[in-house]
Formats: sequence, C-alpha cells, structure tokens
Amino acid sequence: MDTEMPAPAKEAAGRAAARYVKSGMRVGLGTGSTVHWTIVELGERCSAGDLRIVCTATSMRTEDLASSMGLEVMTPDEIGALDLAIDGADEVDPQLNLTKGGGGAHTREKLIAQMAPRFVVVVDETKLVDALGPFGTPIEVLDFAPGVVARRVQALGAGTVTEREARSDNGNLLMDAHFGTISDPALLAGELSRIPGIVEHGLFLADMVERVVIAHGDGSVREITRSEL
Ligand code: A5P
Repeated sequence: MDTEMPAPAKEAAGRAAARYVKSGMRVGLGTGSTVHWTIVELGERCSAGDLRIVCTATSMRTEDLASSMGLEVMTPDEIGALDLAIDGADEVDPQLNLTKGGGGAHTREKLIAQMAPRFVVVVDETKLVDALGPFGTPIEVLDFAPGVVARRVQALGAGTVTEREARSDNGNLLMDAHFGTISDPALLAGELSRIPGIVEHGLFLADMVERVVIAHGDGSVREITRSEL
C-alpha cells in the first residue's frame, strides 16, 4: 500500500461523506486534511442555497475554515446536541476502532463525536491497518506532572512516550505513546482513561463509529458500515 496518497483521494473521501448531511441538521465538524473537503463541500452547498445547517467545530482551524466557507458555527454548549459528526482518522482497524489525534485535536474530537448518534469517518486507504499502533497513540496531558504521566503510560507497555512541541487548542501538552501492535484497544483505552493527568487519549473505539468512507488511489470510494461487520 502507498504511504503517500494523492490529495485527490482525500478530497474524494471528504466530499463523499457530505452526502450524509441534510438540511436542518446540527453537524460536528472534525479536523484534518480529509474532513477539510467535507467542510468545503458543505460550505459550497450552503452558499448555493441547497443546504441549511448549523455546525460546531473540533478545533480552531476547523472553526476558521467553516466560518470562511460561510457555515454557521456555534460552541458545543450553544448547539447542545448533534445529529451527525464527521471526522478523519490516523488509523482504522478491521473492527473500525480508530487512532486519532495526529493533529492534536482528539479531546475536542471525541467530545463532539460523542454528542452525535451518528459518527462518520473519512479516510484515504493509507489509514487502514491490520491492528492499531504503528502511528502511535496521541495523548493530551495536563502540564502538571508530565513525567509522572509518561512513566505510567510506559508501565502500560509503551516503549517510548514522546512529547510534541505543539500544544493542543486547550493549552495542554501533547504526547505520543508507542505501544507497538495494540492487541486489545478497548482494554488499553480503559487503562489510559484511568491515569490522572491524561485529559484524553486518541483511541476511539468502534462502538462510536457508524461508517468509514474510504477513498482509494484509483479514485474509487467505498464504505464500511459497522452494522455490516
Ligand atoms: C486530528 O487531531 C486528527 O484526529 C485527524 O482527524 C486525523 O489526523 C486525520 O487527519 P488527516 O485527514 O489530515 O489525515
């Protein structure tokens, strides 16, 4: 499989997922270069008068993009509940468990995905993996005792835990934990959630996911729906 996917595949996946958005919906907008195209498509349809929606954004850059496309963006508290959320992913396993957080936005992304009864994921085929882990597991950490947190993550089996230079939109530290192949994402997700000082980790379990829209290098787009597995 290619490690670099031409940008048209991201655009194809992103635009294809916009078909699930209908007038009157409250929509959660994810972060990244694939869902970028969903936001562009939604903005174009709204500008043409074909769609009326309100949105909430998972990052400041998504809020800026959505606003620049003419979409109405509210805070999560203002919008209250969502009909649908759409977002990208860094890894998708065969059960549709996800790794997210490559862009450091996974805390807001998880909060917003869980506000919606329907969560649609958009990726190119390079994101499909046999098992989560090779990308690393992003972790947002309070800037209070990062060394203590990193050691606890290592005690769970991470070979290395690296700290990023960039912080999250929430002002917290971002780390990447490298567990190798993650054989039981649900078990690891629970263990990470129990470490005080971890604000959120980037393991999104399959029970959150309705479907994954996947674009291939040849221009084709297919979907995997969790209910079909
Ligand atoms: C942001 O923190 C991530 O979770 C993104 O959703 C993920 O990295 C996918 O981004 P791309 O679509 O740019 O690959």
